[in-house]
Amino acid sequence: MSHTLMVVAHPRTDSLTAQVAAGLQARIRDGGGTVDVLDLYAERFDPRLHPEDEPDWENRDKRYSAEVHAHMDRITAADDILVVFPVWWYAPPAILKGWIDRVWNYGFAYGRSTPRLAAKRMLWLGLAGATAAEYARDGLDTALDTQLRVGISEYNGITASAVRLLHGTELTGVPVHVRPARVRETLAAAEAARQEVLGDGRQHYTSRRTPQRGTALARVEATS
Ligand SMILES: Cc1cc2nc3c(=O)[nH]c(=O)nc-3n(C[C@H](O)[C@H](O)[C@H](O)COP(=O)(O)O)c2cc1C
Repeated sequence: MSHTLMVVAHPRTDSLTAQVAAGLQARIRDGGGTVDVLDLYAERFDPRLHPEDEPDWENRDKRYSAEVHAHMDRITAADDILVVFPVWWYAPPAILKGWIDRVWNYGFAYGRSTPRLAAKRMLWLGLAGATAAEYARDGLDTALDTQLRVGISEYNGITASAVRLLHGTELTGVPVHVRPARVRETLAAAEAARQEVLGDGRQHYTSRRTPQRGTALARVEATS
C-alpha cells in the first residue's frame, strides 16, 4: 500500500479546501493507504527563505536548517505527494510557494544526475473560484500546468505528475442549504482526480486536461 504526503495550504479549517483535504484523507485510509498530513498553516510553517536554507551552488550536500531536513524526510518517506490548495491570483498560496522554495532544495530535489524524487507521483489539486472556461479563455490553465507540473514536478524528476483544478468552488454567495451538496460534489471530483492520477493500477498522464473533457492524453508511465 502506498504512503501519501498530503500538503494542505489554507488558513481556515472550515474552508472548502480543508474539507476536500479531510475527505481525501478518509478515502486514502479507507483504501488501506497511509497519510502524513502536512497542514502548513497549522504547523506554522515559515515560508520565508533564510540564508541557512539558501542553496550553495558549490555544495549540493549542504546541511540546511533542521526544520527543512525534517520536511525533506517527510517527502522522502512518501510514495505519493498530494498537494491540496486554493488558487490565489492564479498561483499557489505564498505559504505553499515558500515550502517549495525552502524544502525542494539543491542537492535534495534537484542537482543530482539521478533525481532522488523521480519514483514519486505527484498531484497538484487546486480549488479555483473561476470556471474552466474563464481559465481557458486567458490561457491560465496552461500557465498553472506549466508552472507546477513542468516547472516544479518535472524539474525535480517527477514525471508521474499532474495538475487538476476543481472549478467554481467559491461558496460565498451560495445559499447555505445548497452548500453541503456543493461540498459533496467537489469532494467527488477531487477523489476522481486522485484516482485518475494516483489511484492503484493507474497510468500516469502529463496533460493538464482530463479524459472527460476529451483531450488527448500523453501517457508517460505505467506503474502497475
Ligand atoms: C486571495 C485570494 C485570491 C484568489 N485568487 C483566485 C484566482 O486567481 N483564481 C481563482 O479561480 N480563484 C481565486 N480565488 C478564489 C479561491 O480559489 C476560492 O476561494 C476557492 O474556491 C477555494 O475555496 P476555499 O477558500 O473555501 O477553500 C482567490 C481567493 C482568495 C482569498
